[in-house]
Amino acid sequence: MAFLSHHLQLTLLFLFLFNATLAYSSWRFEKNVDYNNWISWNIKNYQQKTTLKAESIVQAPGAAGRKALDLKLRKAEMNKVTISVSQNGTGDFKTIREALNSIPLYNTRRLILVIKPGVYREKITIPRTLPFVTFLGDANDPPTITGNDTASVARRDGSPIGTFESATVSVDANYFVAIDMKFENTAPHETGSIGEQGVAIRISGTKAAFYNCSFYGSQDTLYDHKGLHFFNNCFIQGSVDFIFGYGRSLYENCNLNSIAKKVASLTAQKRTNSSLESGFSFKDSVVTGSGQVYLGRAWGDYSRVVFSYTFLDKTVLPQGWSDWGDQKRDFSVYYGEYKCSGPGANLTGRVPWARMLTDEEAKPFIGTYYVEGDSWLIRPY
Ligand SMILES: *[C@@H]1O[C@H](CO)[C@@H](O)[C@H](O)[C@H]1NC(C)=O
Ligand SMILES: *[C@@H]1O[C@H](CO)[C@@H](O)[C@H](O)[C@H]1NC(C)=O
Ligand SMILES: *[C@@H]1O[C@H](CO)[C@@H](O)[C@H](O)[C@H]1NC(C)=O
Ligand SMILES: *[C@@H]1O[C@H](CO)[C@@H](O)[C@H](O)[C@H]1NC(C)=O
Ligand SMILES: *[C@@H]1O[C@H](CO)[C@@H](O)[C@H](O)[C@H]1NC(C)=O
Repeated sequence: MAFLSHHLQLTLLFLFLFNATLAYSSWRFEKNVDYNNWISWNIKNYQQKTTLKAESIVQAPGAAGRKALDLKLRKAEMNKVTISVSQNGTGDFKTIREALNSIPLYNTRRLILVIKPGVYREKITIPRTLPFVTFLGDANDPPTITGNDTASVARRDGSPIGTFESATVSVDANYFVAIDMKFENTAPHETGSIGEQGVAIRISGTKAAFYNCSFYGSQDTLYDHKGLHFFNNCFIQGSVDFIFGYGRSLYENCNLNSIAKKVASLTAQKRTNSSLESGFSFKDSVVTGSGQVYLGRAWGDYSRVVFSYTFLDKTVLPQGWSDWGDQKRDFSVYYGEYKCSGPGANLTGRVPWARMLTDEEAKPFIGTYYVEGDSWLIRPY
């Protein structure tokens, strides 16, 4: 704000306070209106999408009724290139970084990196200029990309790198795909000390899909930062807030495994205002592990998380959800459950603001249309 004049700063401050006061005096009313509008919008949106016959990825590409793939993606898929990475020198490259560096900037082709088994101790960033990259691992022996940076690791100037840069793998590019890969951050989690966030992967690009992948970390394992994301048949492990961010993401057939020692939260979804199209939807999944966990805690005032058809083990706290100590969020978060099972799905003790969704309310969240999948999810293999 250094470039703003004092006068402007004061005006902005005044406007902010004025708005905040207004907002506060009528927030309860507005939240309900917002909420109802959102529900009806979401149902309408769902109906539009189903009339387009948006189907899950099991439908053959090109089948009647399928919404057209987005054009850039279609072009990229018609022009695939495959390169291999193997640590013993039998591939095109020995490291993933070298393979990525070999790709010309402003890539327009699907680039499949066949990554041979092994432990790759590499810190990797896929920049925005490298869309359409696929990491194709090995189902029998998934290659591991590992690191152990935490938020408190110092830069050269002594300042901490922060959670964002602690990621072992950072995906800033769109249209990223990973299959049969293991992403890891091995930094230990000692409850009580700060700066121990250690991200295994950060996904900031949109239209990213993960199949048969695993994610290992402690605090902040999977930074589902932003964009449309799809996770299928994945294993995600961590201790605190281990799926977090404001992506709009569908997790199908996934196992969320807590290694928390005490009380923690599986997710920290950061939807900060009612117009953001963001939220995590977990479907046909399993929650297991140690400690006592909330399904979610509200990082943003409008945090949105839904669990459907999911087995919730006894590790899930009876309360189910946390407002992170800010009660006004009880009226603005959207925490839904639908047809879940297991001891953790017992509603005795649930916070009253958890939502047991009706069929109609659940529908928008329980298909790949939730992430607009019909326009970009392709058969991965
Ligand atoms: C190199 O690694 C690949 C993949 O792990 C393996 O299939 C191949 O046998 C190895 N070759 C040699 C010469 O070690
Ligand atoms: C993914 O995992 C499933 C089993 O969970 C397996 O049947 C399938 O072949 C795997 N796909 C690939 C591409 O490895
Ligand atoms: C991170 O891993 C490196 C390489 O294995 C090791 O030298 C270092 O001590 C580790 N750092 C921490 C904080 O554990
Ligand atoms: C909501 O958040 C988004 C992203 O930060 C921002 O672009 C938008 O202006 C916000 N809308 C409102 C109504 O605050
Ligand atoms: C749910 O939990 C309550 C309190 O622990 C218990 O009394 C009840 O039997 C449980 N219900 C089911 C269906 O397990």
